[in-house]
Amino acid sequence: MKLWGGRFTKPTNQLVEEYTASISFDHILVEEDIRGSLAHVKMLGHCGVLKKEETEQIVAGLKKIREKVALGKVDFSVAYEDIHMNIEKMLIDEIGPVGGKLHTGRSRNDQVALDMHLYLRARTVDMVQGLLALRKALTEKAERYIDAILPGYTHLQRAQPVRFAHHLLAYADMFGRDTERLMDSYKRVNTMPLGAGAIAGTTFPIDRDYVARELGFSRLYENSMDAVSDRDYLVEFLHIASLIMVHLSRLSEELILWSSEEFGYVELDDAFCTGSSMMPQKKNPDVPELIRGKTGRVLGHWVGLMTTLKALPLTYNKDMQEDKEGIFDTVATLSGALSLMAPMIAGMTVKEKKMRQHAEQGFTNATDLADYLVTKGVPFRQAHEIVGKLVLHCIQQQKSLLELDLKEFQNYHSSIEGDIYEKLQVENVADARSSHAGTAKIRVMASLEKKKEEFDETLRWLETVTY
Ligand code: ARG
Repeated sequence: MKLWGGRFTKPTNQLVEEYTASISFDHILVEEDIRGSLAHVKMLGHCGVLKKEETEQIVAGLKKIREKVALGKVDFSVAYEDIHMNIEKMLIDEIGPVGGKLHTGRSRNDQVALDMHLYLRARTVDMVQGLLALRKALTEKAERYIDAILPGYTHLQRAQPVRFAHHLLAYADMFGRDTERLMDSYKRVNTMPLGAGAIAGTTFPIDRDYVARELGFSRLYENSMDAVSDRDYLVEFLHIASLIMVHLSRLSEELILWSSEEFGYVELDDAFCTGSSMMPQKKNPDVPELIRGKTGRVLGHWVGLMTTLKALPLTYNKDMQEDKEGIFDTVATLSGALSLMAPMIAGMTVKEKKMRQHAEQGFTNATDLADYLVTKGVPFRQAHEIVGKLVLHCIQQQKSLLELDLKEFQNYHSSIEGDIYEKLQVENVADARSSHAGTAKIRVMASLEKKKEEFDETLRWLETVTY
């Protein structure tokens, strides 16, 4: 007999039962479901909706079920459709008909919303922690290799020399913004839906603030119809997760390029690579490749949920059950990627010599020669033209700018003097970019200092949150 079987004259078609059930995936919410039910039943007792001993029996029964779950002693059944009714059925089996009082003043519609808020609130905090570990790994690597200089690229063509630290800290900044986004979304995920009932509220004298306090929520949904049909917080999480995955994917792409023979800027730790079944020499960057590859499914979950929601009238519709697998998969995919990226960054070998060699080739100091001419009074546009011609000359002579003698320079502009050789050294080229946010050592060092403050800020936030 179904918990809702009263008005039915036939058993559910077997295929329908399987098609509509969510227990195969929402069993993940078992702890959240029990926790939510404990808060609900205590509130019912507190408000006098249930008697003291009824409340105590139900609390004891729920705790018993929790223990059995921890011991792996429960079998969830598709006949009870979802985690909510599986737990309720177990409760009734455990303590008898009084267990049937648990669902007083509550619907699965506000219950599932509560479970998902509890679930995602904790995962939001986990992701902030995972991002913090990665931001730290990037920053520590940057600090250690503050003197490494590699070519910076635009259009994947060598552009200007940059500090390796500067390049890594660009990613630390992206993940810092992602952290801010998660922190902001936390306010909305930390909003309590229970008490909305199925749609319109409940006839019982409940106390929603009591439940919110019990579970550490900072505010309540103010409209019962919104409370049961809101999935914005899930979409928001999927959006933020998508963006984090895109950032991880871009970083992965750099690691894949950098660890190739063609670039040769880093070597990933053996423990983070795999071999080929045929080619004995191969060492493949499977981890960053998979992070890059798995980004697609997270983006897909985001689009999927948006599409599920886009034409749903208020309030709950069964379509909404489709929110779960995408969220659970996103959490697993994102936390897997975060927990691998941080140690992969920490463990990689940095090949400073190769970086510098490449930074010294490809005329990455050409802008500096133009800037030099500007300091001699040549308008920038004219200087650009002169240096362009000089570069062409170098290409024809198969020389770098630093290999030209002063006469050759002066053939192109008489104001060029002997100090040009110093100015065009790769180190000086990087350090000349000392404008705010530039790649000069002093700027990068200042940025490293700032990161430490940002980490402290994140740690302080982590101390304030409930989950
Ligand atoms: N398993 C359902 C879900 O995940 C729970 C809510 C069911 N509510 C209902 N009215 N059928 O959405």
